[in-house]
Amino acid sequence: MAAPDEHPVRNHVYLVIVLIAATAIAIASSVLNYRNSIDAAEDSLKFQALGVAASLEASLKDRDALRVTGDRLINTDKEKALPDKNIFKDIITDGQWEGIAFIALYDRGGAIMLHSNENLMGRHVEDEYIKKTLSTGGPVYGYITLGTGERVFISNFPVHVRNHAGALRIAFHTYPVEKVIRQARLQMLSISFVIVALWVMGFFFMKAAKRSEELKNIMAEKERLAVLGEMSSVLAHEIRNPLGSIKGFAQYLVEHNRDAHANPDEAGEEYLNIIVSESKRLEALTEDLLLYARPVEVRAQAFNLSELAEEVIHSLAQPGEGVPRVDMQCRIPSGMEIKTDRDKLKQILINVIQNSIDSLDGGGEIEVKAETLKGTVNIAIRDNGCGMDAERSEKAFEPFFTTKARGTGLGLAIVDKLVKSIGGTTGIKSELGRGTVFRIIIPGSFI
Ligand SMILES: Nc1ncnc2c1ncn2[C@@H]1O[C@H](COP(=O)(O)OP(=O)(O)O)[C@@H](O)[C@H]1O
Ligand SMILES: [Mg+2]
Repeated sequence: MAAPDEHPVRNHVYLVIVLIAATAIAIASSVLNYRNSIDAAEDSLKFQALGVAASLEASLKDRDALRVTGDRLINTDKEKALPDKNIFKDIITDGQWEGIAFIALYDRGGAIMLHSNENLMGRHVEDEYIKKTLSTGGPVYGYITLGTGERVFISNFPVHVRNHAGALRIAFHTYPVEKVIRQARLQMLSISFVIVALWVMGFFFMKAAKRSEELKNIMAEKERLAVLGEMSSVLAHEIRNPLGSIKGFAQYLVEHNRDAHANPDEAGEEYLNIIVSESKRLEALTEDLLLYARPVEVRAQAFNLSELAEEVIHSLAQPGEGVPRVDMQCRIPSGMEIKTDRDKLKQILINVIQNSIDSLDGGGEIEVKAETLKGTVNIAIRDNGCGMDAERSEKAFEPFFTTKARGTGLGLAIVDKLVKSIGGTTGIKSELGRGTVFRIIIPGSFI
C-alpha cells in the first residue's frame, strides 16, 4: 500500500519547493525594486542639487557683501539682510528648479553666510554634514528634520568664495522620494497578495490532490475486492461441492465401518474422522472467504437486540467434555428495539463473541452490554481472556492475521467490513493477560 502513496507526497514536496522559491524570488525582487527606486529618486535629487550648485558657485564668487577677515568669511550686509538681492531666495521663487526647500551657504565655523530665509542669516549651527563636507572636500548627502518637522534631503558641496572655504547646502523636499516609496510599498503589498493567494491555492490544490488520491485508492481497493470476491465465489463453488462429497462419504464410511463389521477398524475410523473435521474446517474457510470478499447488500429491519444477542450466545455456548467453562452474560435491556440489518449484526456478534470464547483458554467470563446514546447503539463485548498487546490489537483487523493454529484470520476483517456496511464503527481496548473490550457503535436506525 505504501507505493501508490509515495507519488502524491513527492508532488506535494515539489509544489512546496516551487511555492517557497516563488515567494523568495518575489520578496527579493520587490525589496530590490524598492531599494533601486529610492536610489533612483535620490540620484535625481542629487543631480538637480549639482545643477543648482554649479549655477550658484559662479555668482557667489563676486558677491561684494561677502568679505574675508582673518580666516573668516564675513557677510558685511548681514544687518540689512542683503539688500542687493537674495539670489538664493530668487532661485526658489523663480520656479526654474522644483522642490527646493532652502539653500544656505555656511562658513568654516558653521555660521550661515547666506540663506534663502533671510531671518536665519548669521546664525551658527553645529552640523556634522558641514564639517564632513569641509574635511573631505567632496559632496555629502543625507536627511535632516527641519524645525517644522519636515524631513528634507540635503546635498552639501564645498565652495570657495574669495579663496575662503565654505559649504553650500541645497535642501530638497522629499516628496518625489516619498512618492516612489509609496509606489514601491503598494507594489510590495500587491506582490504579498499574489503570494498569499498562491499559497492558499497551493494548499487547496494539495488537499484536492490528496482527496483524489484517497478516492483512487478506495476505488482500487474496491476493484481488488470485487476481483477477489469473484475469484472466491468461483473457488468456493468449485471446492464446496467436492468437499461436500468427501465429507459425506467419510461420514458414511465411519457409520458403515461400525455397522457392517463385527470388528470395526478403529485406526481407519480415526483417519476418517480427521477427514470429516478437516473438511468442516475447509468449509468454514470457504464460508469466511465468501463473506469477506462478496459485496454486501444491506437489508434493514426492526428487531429486538437482546433477543438477537441471546440467540447468538445460545448458539455459541456448547458446554461439553473437556471444554473450559465459559460464563456468558447478556445485559441488554429486554425492550431495546433497533433498526438495521439483522443478519449482518448477527454475523458480527458471532465473530466477536467467538474470539472472546477463543481467548478464554482456561474458562472465564464474557459480558455483552448495549446502550443507546444520541441515536446510536453502543454494544460492548467484554471478556477476561488472554488479551492483546498494542501491536496485536492494531493487526487484529488485518485479513489473514491470526494467532490461532486453526484460525483463518478473517473474523475481524469480516466484522470491520460488515460494521462499515451498516454505517458503524468499531473499537478495541485490550490488555495483555487481563482481557478485551470490543465496542461496536452503529446507528440505532439504519435505513
Ligand atoms: N477477544 C480477544 N482476545 C484476545 N485476542 C483476540 C480477541 N479478538 C481477536 N483477537 C486476536 O486477533 C486475531 C484475529 O482475529 P480474527 O480476525 O477473528 O481471526 P481468527 O479468530 O481466525 O484468528 C486473533 O487470532 C487473536 O490473536
Ligand atoms: Mg475469529
